[in-house]
Amino acid sequence: MNQTKVDVRIGMIGYQFMGKAHSHAYRDIPFFFEPKANPILKALCGRNKEAVEEAAEKMGWESVETDWRQLIAREDIDVIDIVTPNHTHAEIAIAAAEAGKHIITEKPLALTVEEAKRMKEAVEKHNVVHMICHNYRFVPAVQYAKQLIDEGKLGRIFHFRANYLQDFIIDPAFPLIWRLKKEVSGSGALGDIGAHSIDLARFLVGEIDEVTAMTQTFIEERPMGEMAGGLKGAVNSDEMGKVTVDDAVAIMARFANGTFGTFEASRFATGNRNKNTFEINGEKGSVRWDMENMNFLDVYFTDDDKGVQGFRRVTCTEEEHPYAGAYWPPGHIIGYEHSFIHLLYEFVEAVVDKRQPSPDFKDGYINQLILDAIEKSAEDKSWQSIPYQTE
Ligand SMILES: NC(=O)c1ccc[n+]([C@@H]2O[C@H](COP(=O)([O-])OP(=O)(O)OC[C@H]3O[C@@H](n4cnc5c(N)ncnc54)[C@H](O)[C@@H]3O)[C@@H](O)[C@H]2O)c1
Repeated sequence: MNQTKVDVRIGMIGYQFMGKAHSHAYRDIPFFFEPKANPILKALCGRNKEAVEEAAEKMGWESVETDWRQLIAREDIDVIDIVTPNHTHAEIAIAAAEAGKHIITEKPLALTVEEAKRMKEAVEKHNVVHMICHNYRFVPAVQYAKQLIDEGKLGRIFHFRANYLQDFIIDPAFPLIWRLKKEVSGSGALGDIGAHSIDLARFLVGEIDEVTAMTQTFIEERPMGEMAGGLKGAVNSDEMGKVTVDDAVAIMARFANGTFGTFEASRFATGNRNKNTFEINGEKGSVRWDMENMNFLDVYFTDDDKGVQGFRRVTCTEEEHPYAGAYWPPGHIIGYEHSFIHLLYEFVEAVVDKRQPSPDFKDGYINQLILDAIEKSAEDKSWQSIPYQTE
């Protein structure tokens, strides 16, 4: 062990889908990168002692807690990592900030704009490092797309077009998991997956000025049940419950720089498991990306010779592609879990350097303003401005 490394002692709340992704990522950071931070999986927190002990053993955590307040109170914890459902984020994050802990939380930041604002104010007031887990920013191909745009290689941007399509709730017998209850999740496909597309849009193209949208719920009642790891659900009752969120959303957006934006998010797009895509068209060229083929970036340049014009497919595994050089020789591809390794690498390094990484709670708050405007617009059949002045 390199003695100059700084221990970053993590306490994580939740241990299912994202719990696994984050646990794995912390462990791989020093394996592939040369961080200043030495991430230590200090304590894992869950409500069921036996289950959390089993998860801690499997994922390599040193100890467990069954009450997140106890976890936050521990002096041997520097970072609180929140990988619980959305309705818990605000209370945990604010308590963690008050205790002086650095915070990484899963997305969306909160259930409402009001909660998101309080979370942002708490981390700013207590001067802790904060980050939100929009992991798709950290895919090498996406980072490279950002580089091309920033270098002006696409020129003025005309279009941002995003789809985030899943189909895991298509079966009417799929249970009423937390993701389908507004009081736990805030919104449906919109906040669960659309929030990622909004983050990518802000990262790649810039701020959104106004939106209009429509939402739909296709299946209004489902058997009661809960998440059962990954995106699986388990029915646990004969009773039916009401779905209180959108199953699908379509959004039109005008960006501050004049870009014309269209978005669609659905969990009813049969055959699409995790089809998170964007295409950006500029005056000098285009880029397009698809999470299901995440190592590739399709690139088109108008100044290519006429006879060979067309999208070219670049495999983003070269040293030139952000993060990719830390892994294998070119062409030896990486996967979903690497996006978390990169994001959490940036986070733990920022904790050591005591600087603010990106995306942070301010990004989460702005994202929440946009989610809220989209919901209002769908309700009123109106255009809604994004009220940045409330920041
Ligand atoms: N970044 C991404 O791509 C991505 C992907 C999936 C989920 N998420 C987000 O991650 C978070 C967790 O989602 P998930 O899919 O891991 O959920 P999950 O249902 O698989 O796991 C949730 C975990 O939280 C625990 N939990 C639930 N309620 C709790 C409470 N009140 N107090 C303490 N612990 C509680 C559960 O026991 C479980 O361990 C959500 O905010 C979700 O939106 C992000």
